Amino acid sequence: MCGIVGYIGKRHVVNTLIDGLKRLEYRGYDSAGIAVMENNSISVIKAKGKVSELQKKVAEKLPASASSDISSGIAHTRWATHGPPTEINAHPHTDNSGRIAIVHNGIIDNYVELKKHLSAKGHKFVSETDSEVIAHLIAECFEGDIVQAVAAALKKLEGTFGIAVMCADTPDVLVAARRGSPIVIGVGNSETIIASDISAIISYTKRVIFLNDNDIAMVSAEGIDIRSLDNVPVSRETAHIDWDAEAAEKGGYEHFMLKEIFEQPAAISNAIRGRLDETQANGILSGLNLSAREMAMINRIVIASCGTSMHAGMMAEYYFEDLANIPTEVEQAAEFRYRNPIIEPNTLVLAISQSGETADTLAAVREAANKGAIVAGICNVVGSTIARETGQGLYIHAGPEIGVASTKAFTCQVAVLLIMALKFGRGRRLSRHDGMKLVEEIKSIPALVTQVLEKASDIERIAKKYADAEDFFYIGRGYLYPVAMEGALKLKEISYIHAEGYHAAELKHGPIALLERKVPVIALANDIPGKDKMIANMQECRARKSPVIATATIGDEEIKTYSEDIIWIPRSSQLITPIPTVVALQLFSYYVAKERGCSIDQPRNLAKSVTVE
Ligand code: G6P
Repeated sequence: MCGIVGYIGKRHVVNTLIDGLKRLEYRGYDSAGIAVMENNSISVIKAKGKVSELQKKVAEKLPASASSDISSGIAHTRWATHGPPTEINAHPHTDNSGRIAIVHNGIIDNYVELKKHLSAKGHKFVSETDSEVIAHLIAECFEGDIVQAVAAALKKLEGTFGIAVMCADTPDVLVAARRGSPIVIGVGNSETIIASDISAIISYTKRVIFLNDNDIAMVSAEGIDIRSLDNVPVSRETAHIDWDAEAAEKGGYEHFMLKEIFEQPAAISNAIRGRLDETQANGILSGLNLSAREMAMINRIVIASCGTSMHAGMMAEYYFEDLANIPTEVEQAAEFRYRNPIIEPNTLVLAISQSGETADTLAAVREAANKGAIVAGICNVVGSTIARETGQGLYIHAGPEIGVASTKAFTCQVAVLLIMALKFGRGRRLSRHDGMKLVEEIKSIPALVTQVLEKASDIERIAKKYADAEDFFYIGRGYLYPVAMEGALKLKEISYIHAEGYHAAELKHGPIALLERKVPVIALANDIPGKDKMIANMQECRARKSPVIATATIGDEEIKTYSEDIIWIPRSSQLITPIPTVVALQLFSYYVAKERGCSIDQPRNLAKSVTVE
């Protein structure tokens, strides 16, 4: 989610680090910092805001003349996950002696307990981050050999990390390591670059080594020595990258949207990480400042949101009512703010927003707070206005979403809302047995999404076949109704095709008049309750000559009889199947838009974050 650069070698270290950070900044960061090695001591400079702010500070504190003695350094651009984007929370973080500095991408799950343990040993923490604990832990394990200290520390960390480390006692080396968060090392002539993403490397060298999980690399200007956590040497192949810088930013994908669609297994894993209690068969909602009793008192939930986030809210309505028996309504935030909604003392108002800045959703938050509601946010951008003003809620940890059409934020929102419903449900009528079943199902989501992504070329073929259509209907029932809405929204946003999402039963009440040969219908006919009714609706469409493209559960051969084309979705329960299904529809929209030559990442007239009414 954040960006890491490390450099050791013959170039101007500070300029190389800043240049690397700028190449990573396309992901939209909130603060940055560098640590450099000068005459066997480490200097750290950090700034809130863009890399250009850091660059100004660095120019003041380390003028070019003074920076010629610098032999190596590490740098970071941050996308906040723990603690708001402030200078103190920016990386690099150091131990109390200032002789060890680290930069970190990922999330340390057990940082609270490690912090407690290290504080008891005298370590003083200054930031609100999980990352700072790594610097202190390495210092605690340090007995003269930095690689050994990093290995010992990593054995104690739970969670995900890509890190770069420097130590004033070993000024000629940097150390890099990873578990679950990428680290790539660029191998140059008398220079070595560490980065979280090859876009920071390829203008210097095309020869790179990708670290595997639990690899620790000792990096000098002359080369790399990679070891396992148990100090066994390992060898990794050197790959040759022939992408240009722009392709590298997109990880080799043609568009950010496609990259973000493919990031979903990892993003969803991040969203659910640390939020499932397998012993209690429950959800963990540490971002909500509500006691079990206060949670049990909530007798109504009102969700206020816009666009794709509103569709996630519609999913949540089903979850909260089915699993927790809490009456739930979804309101367009713009409507909520003006229509004098009824809020009672035990009403929870949930504001769902990827950006955390949407004007209507923010206004709804303020209106709800005025009326005395319990207000919580479900946001992606840490420290965003909605996250701050609600003061409690859950971050979805989807990572930066650049494509204007929301993809990974939606699936992460849905996953987090499902965990929330599990928690509320366990406090009410959901049995331990059913809770456990749901925990297992939630854990399976990333793998189900991966299965859909593996079949992207089948979806592309179908998309190309229908890319000339000018109107589409998407129909769904039950848990797949919000997915029909979201599928249609995705198509209209990026392909400019007129598309409407409808409840399949509503089709008869008007829209059926529009059906004809040139109007394809996407029917969400997965094998979940309501499928038989959906089949009847599909026949109604075919009787009007509309071509029917179905989503169907793998193995459900019966659907072939009722549709022209089928997008296959792996089998899962009705609670879960919306997620892989929406991913398939995202891909469908993407390939249609691509076939039509549309501007996929920046569709006309749309904005990623709508901060006006
Ligand atoms: C804009 C974006 C949509 C997004 C909506 C709500 O319209 O283009 O993709 O769903 O705003 O944004 P939010 O940041 O509040 O989720």
